[in-house]
Amino acid sequence: MCGIVGYVGQRDAAEILLEGLHRLEYRGYDSAGIAVFGENGIAIRKKAGRVTELAQLLERQPAIGSVGIGHTRWATHGAATDINSHPHVGGNGDVVVVHNGVIENYATLKDKLQERGYVFRSSTDTEVVAHLIAHQLEELIKLGDDPTDVKTAVTAVEASIKVLKGTYGLGILFRDLPGLLIGARAGSPLVVGVGKGEYFLASDSGPLVGHTSEIVYLSDNELVVLTPDEMKLTHRDSGKMVPSIQVLDQAAADSDLGEFEHYMLKEIYEQPTTIENALRGRLDDDAATAKFGDVNLTVQQLRRIDRVVLTACGTSWHSGLVGEYLIEEFARIPVEVEYASEFRYRNAPLSETTMIFAITQSGETADTLAAMRESQRKGHSTLAICNVVGSTIAREADGGIYLHAGPEIGVASTKAFTSQVAVLTLLALYFGRIRNMSYGAGQRIISHLRAMPETIQRSFACHDAVKEVAQKYYGADNFLYLGRNYNFPVALEGALKLKEISYIHAEGYPAAEMKHGPIALVDENTPSVFVIPRCGLYPKVMSNLEEVKARKGPIIAIACEGDDQIARFADDVIFVPDVEDYLQPIVTAIPLQLLAYEIALLRGCNVDRPRNLAKSVTVE
Ligand code: F6R
Repeated sequence: MCGIVGYVGQRDAAEILLEGLHRLEYRGYDSAGIAVFGENGIAIRKKAGRVTELAQLLERQPAIGSVGIGHTRWATHGAATDINSHPHVGGNGDVVVVHNGVIENYATLKDKLQERGYVFRSSTDTEVVAHLIAHQLEELIKLGDDPTDVKTAVTAVEASIKVLKGTYGLGILFRDLPGLLIGARAGSPLVVGVGKGEYFLASDSGPLVGHTSEIVYLSDNELVVLTPDEMKLTHRDSGKMVPSIQVLDQAAADSDLGEFEHYMLKEIYEQPTTIENALRGRLDDDAATAKFGDVNLTVQQLRRIDRVVLTACGTSWHSGLVGEYLIEEFARIPVEVEYASEFRYRNAPLSETTMIFAITQSGETADTLAAMRESQRKGHSTLAICNVVGSTIAREADGGIYLHAGPEIGVASTKAFTSQVAVLTLLALYFGRIRNMSYGAGQRIISHLRAMPETIQRSFACHDAVKEVAQKYYGADNFLYLGRNYNFPVALEGALKLKEISYIHAEGYPAAEMKHGPIALVDENTPSVFVIPRCGLYPKVMSNLEEVKARKGPIIAIACEGDDQIARFADDVIFVPDVEDYLQPIVTAIPLQLLAYEIALLRGCNVDRPRNLAKSVTVE
């Protein structure tokens, strides 16, 4: 949540910052602002609303200079107003700060600073950081330190962050040091882009694209001092560090909309490619199994595993549920799927033979990161199933599997879900093959997986039918999503997609569980979406469908091509290709993603930037 960007160099900072903020806007879009060092000091422009509104403000009131910081906000403390927008000013304009994270002890610090005469203008936690640094600066100047010396600024920042509790990624400018930008990180991501005579600071690699392909990923408790000619990196405990400069994969970090109207639609349609990327190089035909490069465990260690814990949030948690069904079925290993926000505080018993996976698209979700750290603290190596290369979880995990799905910008996760399911299928295959699964069964799974990109491509044929269904039901206030077995997590995911982007109340349920309560919601105005492809439980789901029909609930069925009886029972049918039951989630998720998208459009909602949400949830 919140994106920060910074620039020191020779070019027009405002232009670079604005472009960076557009790329970071998925992290929050309550307000946007920049501060640029100009001839007359630091000019601040900030505004509640989207980055485009900030751009309009800058047309009327340009900010000219070649050093600056910027911020796009997801409000945590204080409403989404102009005054609460970042950057925030400390002291009498001595310090200007942008911040991503949460300062947990801000109230105590604020009291102390107010007692000392600092005047607060906003209700944010960030303003505390700005005043705190200004205060430390003032103390150092009283002791005779030179405010135009970089060392004084660095000492003031170091002294300030020592007393902060919580999380932060910070970008800091000083009134008396025009060519200086300081960045600091604890718990919120921060990267530095290395250019020629210029440096970039950002919450992720997006703002670097097109400017440089050299990137440094900061770790927690690191502080970076940037001037146009130099980068100095220090760690709170180990002191001076040599930055590890890595090559940024420009194509992987790029996120252009192309021919599509929205990122969500683009990402839905990318799924044949993203599934292919998830499988690439991981199918071992000779051994009829899956192979992974970076799991960092021997076969002997993996064979000893007798329990798997999958921890995640939101959509990634739903893919974890599919993973539970897959691993238990293929490998007969008991699996638990834990909400990371619960797991991190629960003292769950974990034996030496328990394997823990954190599943995350962004690799920055605060709860998932904390759950991973908690299990590592207890001595358990934890693997990540992650999309964003170089993200905190990817770097801190003891090993892992990347999704290679490319940037997911739409706030509603789509392609990451299906890629996670594909990777979990590979993992289940691998675990199965080092246990009891036969060579022949392994081969069959491989050939079915290999066909998936083409199958997904065919499933887009349902889009017209989805549009008709959306047209018919977009005015409904409530929806039920029902499925069984592998399609129960898909029902949960379909309901989540609908509610997050169309603001319609939707509940996902195991189809048979519905009669234990939710069936009371059924009436002629509450559509039920039944995910009912052909599988062993087809007749059972059909009985559940009849139960809803008997109560006059409109029925939308997601069924397999060739199912010629479903139309007699459902009001509307959306057909998808017929695949093995364990691969159905990848196929049946697609019409549900499209349905949410089309309904949200008809209701006039902002599909890519739904209210109250942000793409990376980096606060607890
Ligand atoms: C829903 C959605 C969220 C995320 C959740 C976890 O469409 O995007 O529920 O799935 O915030 O995010 P990651 O996977 O980045 O850890």
